[in-house]
Amino acid sequence: MIVPNHVGIIVDGNGRWATQKGKKRSEGHLAGSKNLDSLCQYIFDKGVKILSLYVFSTENFKRSDEEVNYLMDLFIKKFKNDFKIFNKKDIKIVFSGRREPLRQEILDIIDDITYKTKDNKSGILNFCLNYGSHAEIIDAVKKINKDIINNKLVIDELNDDIFKNYLYNNLPDVDLLIRTGGEVRLSNFMLWQCAYAELYFTDILFPDFNEAELEKALDSYSKRDRRYGGINYEKKSN
Ligand code: FPP
Repeated sequence: MIVPNHVGIIVDGNGRWATQKGKKRSEGHLAGSKNLDSLCQYIFDKGVKILSLYVFSTENFKRSDEEVNYLMDLFIKKFKNDFKIFNKKDIKIVFSGRREPLRQEILDIIDDITYKTKDNKSGILNFCLNYGSHAEIIDAVKKINKDIINNKLVIDELNDDIFKNYLYNNLPDVDLLIRTGGEVRLSNFMLWQCAYAELYFTDILFPDFNEAELEKALDSYSKRDRRYGGINYEKKSN
């Protein structure tokens, strides 16, 4: 089976999962977080090298203070726990997103984990937190402009490879993008990196997106004909 190098997951459906069960939304997030614990390990064990998780968008700050605070506390616990697990497995943990208006406690954990795992080589776990693709591209353009003013970059030399250095993290493109929860949209997730991603949408709500469901996504990916705008001559019939 062909395994994707970089998998992105738009984590969606925690709230509906909880509502359907007569639980509070926070219980859905807790269930989603527990599901991630086993799923992440499984994904790396399958041979995927990079996993990007959309866990909080810039737009998610529009939710109630209660929900946002709950999520931030959950992230803190989760990041500390993931650091212990993935650092042992030689996996680098990175974060993508704007720092403002994340609270200092989260920023400190992000900086600490980023630093402590920076030399790990076996894989990359990328948490997209307070992330939005438009913000990422605008922030990149601002950094590029500064480098041009400071004579560190010549505008005519800008190309795809150089541009990627200005994104939050310079990661290879996403090969397989999974969205749980039934919506069929990208919601501002890694638009630059997903230019040629194979898309997989499922109605399964994230807390129920288990290893068997992941296998379906990987199976679907392995059957895709990836042409990148060209022609697959082995499969071309005329
Ligand atoms: C989507 O469900 C999920 C989120 C807004 C992000 C939270 C993600 C987790 C808690 C997963 C665990 C991750 C970490 C790092 C702790 P939703 O609330 O949008 O669901 P809905 O569309 O059904 O309302």
